[in-house]
Amino acid sequence: MAILKIKKYDDSVLREKAKIVLKVDDDVKKLAYDMLETMYLALGVGLAAPQVGVSVRLCVIDVNLSKKSPIIMVNPIIISCDVKKIFEREGCLSFPGFYENVKRYEKVVVRYTDLNSEEREIETRDLLSRAIQHEVDHLDAKLFIDYLPKWKRRFVEKKAKKNRNVNNW
Ligand code: NI
Repeated sequence: MAILKIKKYDDSVLREKAKIVLKVDDDVKKLAYDMLETMYLALGVGLAAPQVGVSVRLCVIDVNLSKKSPIIMVNPIIISCDVKKIFEREGCLSFPGFYENVKRYEKVVVRYTDLNSEEREIETRDLLSRAIQHEVDHLDAKLFIDYLPKWKRRFVEKKAKKNRNVNNW
């Protein structure tokens, strides 16, 4: 496994819509495991492939950071969401050191392919639901700062510039 470089807020790859993964081959598996290792080292709960410079629809999530039950999602699609939305503090490894309240659906159902090429569907709530919405946004070139008012976005970008060398291994 290898540690990957995490792309920061102003990298253009974060604004590209990620491509569908056509086949879960060894390259995809290696990328997923490298992303997991990178995420754990950076103390994040989720990481999407565009954040390591690969514009494909793959993300890894482990909201417990226990390393026991990471979820690796290939081509995730949110197929239904609860009407209820909640505000909660949220961060992103591409914006080190920055956290802001973002409104997300409390519950979502997500469908994805796992590394064994099996299709799965899970119903999630709370932090996991939030992490999934955040990571799927990454695959659609959307960042959490897009939910903030303009003046706040400018503030975040300024702060992110200052912190851009955090997690730079
Ligand atoms: Ni993020």
